[in-house]
Amino acid sequence: MTKPQGIAVLGATGSVGSNTLDVIARHPDRYRAVALSGNRQLERLFEQACRFRPDYLVVPDAASAADLAFRLRSAGVSSQVLHGAQALEQVASLPEVDMVMAAIVGAAGLPSALAAARAGKRILLANKESLVVAGRLFMETVRRHGASLYPVDSEHSAIFQSLPHDYAGNPDASGIRKIILTASGGPFRARSADSLLQVTPDDACNHPNWVMGRKISVDSASLMNKGLEVIEAHWLFSTPPESIEVVVHPQSVIHSMVQYRDGSVMAQLGSPDMRTPIACAMAWPERIEAGVASLDFFSLGALSFEAPDLERFPCLRLAFDALRAGGDAPAVLNAANEVAVSAFLDGRLRFVDIPRVVGEALAAVDLRASQSLDGLLSRDAEARRFAEQQVAAC
Ligand SMILES: NC(=O)c1ccc[n+]([C@@H]2O[C@H](COP(=O)([O-])OP(=O)(O)OC[C@H]3O[C@@H](n4cnc5c(N)ncnc54)[C@H](OP(=O)(O)O)[C@@H]3O)[C@@H](O)[C@H]2O)c1
Repeated sequence: MTKPQGIAVLGATGSVGSNTLDVIARHPDRYRAVALSGNRQLERLFEQACRFRPDYLVVPDAASAADLAFRLRSAGVSSQVLHGAQALEQVASLPEVDMVMAAIVGAAGLPSALAAARAGKRILLANKESLVVAGRLFMETVRRHGASLYPVDSEHSAIFQSLPHDYAGNPDASGIRKIILTASGGPFRARSADSLLQVTPDDACNHPNWVMGRKISVDSASLMNKGLEVIEAHWLFSTPPESIEVVVHPQSVIHSMVQYRDGSVMAQLGSPDMRTPIACAMAWPERIEAGVASLDFFSLGALSFEAPDLERFPCLRLAFDALRAGGDAPAVLNAANEVAVSAFLDGRLRFVDIPRVVGEALAAVDLRASQSLDGLLSRDAEARRFAEQQVAAC
């Protein structure tokens, strides 16, 4: 019998992280959780540790590490508890780790995802912000160190599955006309512009089809999530912005498509359940059981499609603009958006002011390309400071 493959689940306590553990639990012969990380939900991390018995746990600071280590010892669990951002990079690079699930939310997930790339791991990439902030650097690091990258975002997993299996990053050579990213449209798809003035964080997080963390839920409601995905698709599949189209498809059954030169469209369909793209990334080219209900075509009803409304949801346009502007524009877009979304979730900013803060950051912060990770991180910090000032002024 072959040894189970070791997985580090970074962001284990989150929505993608928990779904990953669910898939791992279905295949104890194939996969073993070597390391798990959490940030604020330490009770959940404790429960996960008791169940999965990983070698390592990572928490944000020394005090929570000591507390968790004490509780684990009392429960008879011998996991070693590490702390801090460096520890995330450390576990992502362990020799016993074959694959890294990068499921930390936001730019905070970038350094550990990059560490996994430097260590030549199989990277299961949920953290789209890594590619938005540092697309060129990230892709170069993956190539240079022989890492492999498997998208976990359901749209990018769909595109990956709809591309030729030998796709080598040249859309023209593969006869690709365009990549079509589907978007559910989020909870406010049918709302009037005026009614968006009053929406609350709970309204924004009440997604019609997907259960997700609060940050990505707000991004889905503003269509910034689709904008980040456009940038992610550009880097993953070497597609120019003019060959990426967004189509609103409220049922979230078609997860994305590739249109070819001869008129064919290849699509991937499935129930809206993240365990499908997670299992696909873990096992590809094999297909494993993921606990996902089969699509029942007889009860699906109609599938519908519409164009996104960039007047009511300007974040998608801002993301396309940032991708076309190049340089550090996507990093500035992302940083300002993280600040604005966090302020909205805290009740300090209206939903409709999110694009305003992002647009002002793109107009004011230097967008010239940084040449290193340190440069990008300082640009990220500069954009955050600027966005915080804008939030305070709103
Ligand atoms: N959810 C989805 O269906 C979905 C689909 C496609 C892509 N994604 C992408 O996957 C990533 C995770 O999304 P999610 O919905 O799973 O988010 P989530 O539920 O909010 O989980 C985020 C995870 O990151 C941890 N975390 C947060 N801030 C951190 C920090 N500063 N340092 C270290 N860890 C930190 C959280 O820890 P605590 O919970 O312990 O605080 C949690 O484990 C995002 O980039 C998102 O865009 C998600």
